[in-house]
Amino acid sequence: MIPPVDLGTQYRSLKNYIDAAFQDILSSGMFILGPHVEAFEKAFASYCSVEHAIGVNSGTSALHLAMLALGIGPGDEVITCAHTFIATVEAIAYTGARPILVDATPGTCVMDVTQVESVISAKTRAIIPVHLYGQPVDMDPLLEIARAHNLAVIEDAAQAHGSLYKDRKVGSLGTAACFSFYPTKNLGAYGEAGAVVTNDPEIAQHIRHLRSHGESTRYHHDMVGYNYRMSALQGAVLNIKLPYLDEWNAQRQRHAGTFTKLLADLPLTLPVEAPYAQHVYHLYVVQTDRRDELYDRLRANKIIASIHYPIPSHLTPAFAHLGYGAGSFPVAEHLAKEVLSLPLYPEMTTEQIEQVVAEVRKFFETPKQ
Ligand SMILES: Cc1ncc(COP(=O)(O)O)c(C=O)c1O
Repeated sequence: MIPPVDLGTQYRSLKNYIDAAFQDILSSGMFILGPHVEAFEKAFASYCSVEHAIGVNSGTSALHLAMLALGIGPGDEVITCAHTFIATVEAIAYTGARPILVDATPGTCVMDVTQVESVISAKTRAIIPVHLYGQPVDMDPLLEIARAHNLAVIEDAAQAHGSLYKDRKVGSLGTAACFSFYPTKNLGAYGEAGAVVTNDPEIAQHIRHLRSHGESTRYHHDMVGYNYRMSALQGAVLNIKLPYLDEWNAQRQRHAGTFTKLLADLPLTLPVEAPYAQHVYHLYVVQTDRRDELYDRLRANKIIASIHYPIPSHLTPAFAHLGYGAGSFPVAEHLAKEVLSLPLYPEMTTEQIEQVVAEVRKFFETPKQ
């Protein structure tokens, strides 16, 4: 079987460090925030080339708090891309603001920044570019538009830890950036976790209060906040894993290169790396109009491919009330029908990659029924 990720192998390679940190936490009884989370926040801020990182309990919470800290709420509009994981759009809805969507670019699969200016209104407060699959959005033109209209930019970097935009770290480009450390991410915890990073000390302080019931000091609640704190166990795992992230990303890039070389002659659209980007291949996403058949065939042969994502956000029942309807975002709708994520993780062997390629090849070489 070839799984979509292999977290067991990664754990075994770090077992001694992780077990020791967990023992330390179990005997200290400090399960929420504390020194492991603080150490990770410091290390992750430095990794992202920013001043502040605030650990929270998920990437979704990170997005929610980043918007709240910017004062976004009912009556406001926030622009993002229709082709994203639903959490981006949900977090906008949590604040009471209205999500305004634009389409993706067909090659890179990320936000088409040329569409943003035409949807800016007097109510627009922020733009959320999503660095989907590990590929950064074209940030310079987007930041230019944001500056011209006095809008905040919140990067959704949940899938792009360590990727570069023109040699600048993703996460350091906007007003704030949000990361998810869901276990399967390039940097993954052993449960739910996330972080906001920013250079703005006021935003950082506001988020620290909001993540912990609006407390400035114990039991002094200056605002209505949330219970969005990072657990100590997650801080410890993340702190242990962070020094390996660049090497793991390099392995992902090497594996992606091998896939691209071996699949080049097949009737598939392969991932492209934007000229401005260093893609970190959180996902290796191919496109084919026979996606569902290929998905079934690979799974029948114990190769666990996945679909990210089968329904574009504007066509989910949850966001039908936005009124976009079918045909509103043709690229996002096309991608939802054709994208297929092949298994890709740092620990993958060349034999496993060749096995995936052999099955894909067999699929296209067998005459259609
Ligand atoms: C693009 C994107 N944004 C936001 C999130 C939300 O992160 P979490 O699952 O940690 O809440 C995810 C998680 O998969 C994501 O992929």
